[in-house]
Amino acid sequence: MVLVGPSGAGKSTWAAARYRADEVVSSDALRGVVGSGPHDLDASSDAFDLLERIVAARLGRGLTTVVDTLGLDDARRTAWLALARAAGLPAVVVLLTTPPELCRERNRGRDRPVPAQVITGQIRKAGSIATTLDLEGWDEVHRTDETGGAAESAPERPLGSTTSTTAERRTSQGLRFVLQVGRFPWGEDPATWLAEVALAADRAGFAGLALLDHLIQIPQVGRAWEPIPEPWVTLGLLAGLDTGLELGTLVTPVTFRPPGITAKAAATLDALTGGRAFVGLGAGWWEREHAAYGLPFPPARERLADLEHAITTMRALWAPGTKSAGGLPETTCYPRPAHEIPVIVGGSGDRTLRIARAHADAVNVRTSELERARAALEGSDVRITVLDLPTIGRDRDDTWARVERLRGSTKATAYAERTYAGTPAEQRVRYGALADRGVDTVFLAVGDLDGPDDVERLAPLVV
Ligand code: GTP
Ligand code: MG
Repeated sequence: MVLVGPSGAGKSTWAAARYRADEVVSSDALRGVVGSGPHDLDASSDAFDLLERIVAARLGRGLTTVVDTLGLDDARRTAWLALARAAGLPAVVVLLTTPPELCRERNRGRDRPVPAQVITGQIRKAGSIATTLDLEGWDEVHRTDETGGAAESAPERPLGSTTSTTAERRTSQGLRFVLQVGRFPWGEDPATWLAEVALAADRAGFAGLALLDHLIQIPQVGRAWEPIPEPWVTLGLLAGLDTGLELGTLVTPVTFRPPGITAKAAATLDALTGGRAFVGLGAGWWEREHAAYGLPFPPARERLADLEHAITTMRALWAPGTKSAGGLPETTCYPRPAHEIPVIVGGSGDRTLRIARAHADAVNVRTSELERARAALEGSDVRITVLDLPTIGRDRDDTWARVERLRGSTKATAYAERTYAGTPAEQRVRYGALADRGVDTVFLAVGDLDGPDDVERLAPLVV
């Protein structure tokens, strides 16, 4: 990203409001590093040598780089464009459209103003560049607003109340958010930790809370000896809290329990919560936990057949009346569920999506698999939900600190890209795009959900 504008246009201010200090490479700052201060023009040549090396090194690693110079030198500007191209990165110019009079006025007010005729030259040059920038081949030429743009960034804090009072908790972008909890760093008091996380999710405006259903903690989330509670028991505890959260699993493997037993548990949960239960169902995938608990783990073809059969069995048991249905001699399941319990099928394989299309209320796929699901479900009214695993910080510094903490041996830029690392404001842009692509519900799973404070950190997403 290359800033362009005369002295006093507000380039450094614009960058500081949006980027981490380390992402901004400033010729003034580097003059201060190798010279007597930011205004030591004798140090310009050394400062620019350094600037070029820093820009090249950062682009080589695929890192966001904001070049804060006047940006008026055609040769330098187009060389940065070429470097970005060579690194396979998008290249953007930010043209500060601050009125010349305002630049002059700010310049006069500074401790060390630039001579008036110098700034006049800069203003003239910026004006001529403005007319040809669009021809240079940038991915985007962003023009700030008339004030210099420092105030235009999106609000990052929720406005007003965070708890939805309507039955359906949707964000202003039309999405429902369900907090998926898969790690349980609950210390000495599991029940209190669970209650505090659920109450925080309710306050933040989440539509629901989903638990992983695994017998051993999965390697994607934690170590095998870290706790992972039985979800239907745990949901019973959460059902006793005063919240409006929908409660369920994402997802229960059909291999763990006969479908009637899952139907019974879900019907009971639905009755206890006045109609807030849902069931995520999948074919199961992790052989180790089955072996460890003495459960059969048949081939995929069979597990998928079991998935289909499980849904019809559960629906039969939940349907009104006692009769012979779904291959059962009778469907006697009391208490009755308080509402029609949604079944969400997890997975994006062809057959899974066909089963979902025929029997489910919704599917759940990774964000990256959205197009597959859309194609498979076109024309049906099965809702699309995504499992989203982002890195979300309070601001850019906090986001990168979290990337550093979570990335393990993965390269920082690769981890940031794979987990869509960004601030709440940046995530909202992404969620807006998901909503536009037909997503109904986002199951949000963050790798650093340590307790209720982290739920509050996510609150701006749920507004
Ligand atoms: P050079 O580094 O000299 O090229 O200037 P620059 O384009 O980096 O401008 P800088 O960001 O240093 O802003 C110049 C002055 O304008 C500073 O005193 C800022 O505080 C002020 N300023 C910048 N943007 C805004 C804005 O949006 N509103 C107001 N009121 N002042 C601003
Ligand atoms: Mg500056």
